[in-house]
Amino acid sequence: MVSRVIPVEDFDLVIFGGTGDLARRKILPGLFRRFLSGQMPETSRIIGAARSDLDTDGYRQLIREAIAEFGGEESSDAEGIDAFLGQLHYVTVDAKGDGGWSELHDLIRFEVVNAFYFSVAPSLFGDLAERLHTYKIADADSRVVVEKPFGRDLASAKALNATLAEHFDESQVYRIDHYLGKETVQNLMAVRFGNMLFEPLWNNHYVDHIEITVAETVGVGGRGSYYDKSGAMRDMVQNHLMQLLCLIAMEAPSEFESDAVRDEKLKVIRALQPVEPHHIVRGQYDAKGDEPSYRQDAEDPRTFTESFVAMRCEIANWRWAGVPFYLRTGKKLKARTSEIAVVFKDLGHSIFPGDEKRHRNILAIQLQPNEGMQLQVTIKEPGPGGMRLVDVPLDMTFAEALGPDAEDVTDAYERLIMDVIRGNQTLFMRGDEVEAAWAWTDPIIEGWQARHDVPKLYDQGSSGPEDAMALMHREGRKWREIKG
Ligand code: BG6
Repeated sequence: MVSRVIPVEDFDLVIFGGTGDLARRKILPGLFRRFLSGQMPETSRIIGAARSDLDTDGYRQLIREAIAEFGGEESSDAEGIDAFLGQLHYVTVDAKGDGGWSELHDLIRFEVVNAFYFSVAPSLFGDLAERLHTYKIADADSRVVVEKPFGRDLASAKALNATLAEHFDESQVYRIDHYLGKETVQNLMAVRFGNMLFEPLWNNHYVDHIEITVAETVGVGGRGSYYDKSGAMRDMVQNHLMQLLCLIAMEAPSEFESDAVRDEKLKVIRALQPVEPHHIVRGQYDAKGDEPSYRQDAEDPRTFTESFVAMRCEIANWRWAGVPFYLRTGKKLKARTSEIAVVFKDLGHSIFPGDEKRHRNILAIQLQPNEGMQLQVTIKEPGPGGMRLVDVPLDMTFAEALGPDAEDVTDAYERLIMDVIRGNQTLFMRGDEVEAAWAWTDPIIEGWQARHDVPKLYDQGSSGPEDAMALMHREGRKWREIKG
């Protein structure tokens, strides 16, 4: 296969929190894979910066271990690892004090792209941003990368945006939602805006409803006390599901350019209607044999935080008025799958005698684990016996359709970090988008608190609470099966 990798410009990337979990699990193994692919110039450098009292050798050893653990297949490439580690440096810095900042300044090459990854608690963003300027490390060309959670409500998100805005222009800020870096999420845009077939049907005349499911099999064990302050609504819906909803519902931007795309996404979020309390179901997974319940994982026997949410939303605009969008996400469900299904309306009249089934075209887009698309179409069942109709999927599993090229799928973090270096903000959330998403989410969460809403228990390995099924059943619809 001809390599399509285009090397990025030379850069110095500073990772604050460079010894942390995210850096070890995702950021550095991801960068290592980009290095092996030839995308990282040999002169580029990654500078870990954290409180730990390490030197560069100690840091290289730490990352060597991280790559062995989280680097996947490539972690057996000993020569590659040595070469990659050679590009790593480390500085001990005190985010709240003066230690290490002058050393960091001396290490940076100002003539190349400079990016600063804040892989730290949001409460430190202000301290880091301030010191980057005081010590003249960052300038108007630097880029700063921040992670979710970006706030826990509108007020805190606004405060974070304001803190960053004191030191950086919006064009320098890269807010990561790793769902936007997933291959198939970008394919949503390609499918919608690169084909003639779908656009004429992509509206309330032809679409009955849209389902977005992000189901996980893992629980919150190990991060229960953190997760419990957040819950599925803040952890998944406000960001990941919201981004998927935007991409499926937005108008075509005039060009594939960062602000044009983000303007259209913002319009979707702003058109989202408040959600009626009876249109949301929250759940908590129950214990199963030796498997702990959500409450046990969260180490709080009285917590009302949800590990599952299902809801019915509406977008009030010309394209989507009257079309329900059903969103659902949860932990400890039947299978790990993320899927978007566009369910088209019934024909309304069948010319085939005896054919009473409701045939529906469904475009199902799987984001993970098996990336692909299926279009359900109705055909004649082969053989004698008259015109018996049957629904079959036109299956386009990308691995089959694209062969070895499909395997060249870049992990979300890798793609996003390379986009930071390229200076492309299209797949990052703009400050106003994040705020609009919180403005829609806040009243939902406040409503639960005001009503002392108690999440429904659901069985581990199920599709969530019964009430979530009822959400669609009472409207004559049915969730698609959760299968991996
Ligand atoms: C994270 C959430 O943002 O996304 C986690 O905090 C969740 O709770 C994870 O498990 C899911 O990501 P992915 O890529 O595995 O679908």
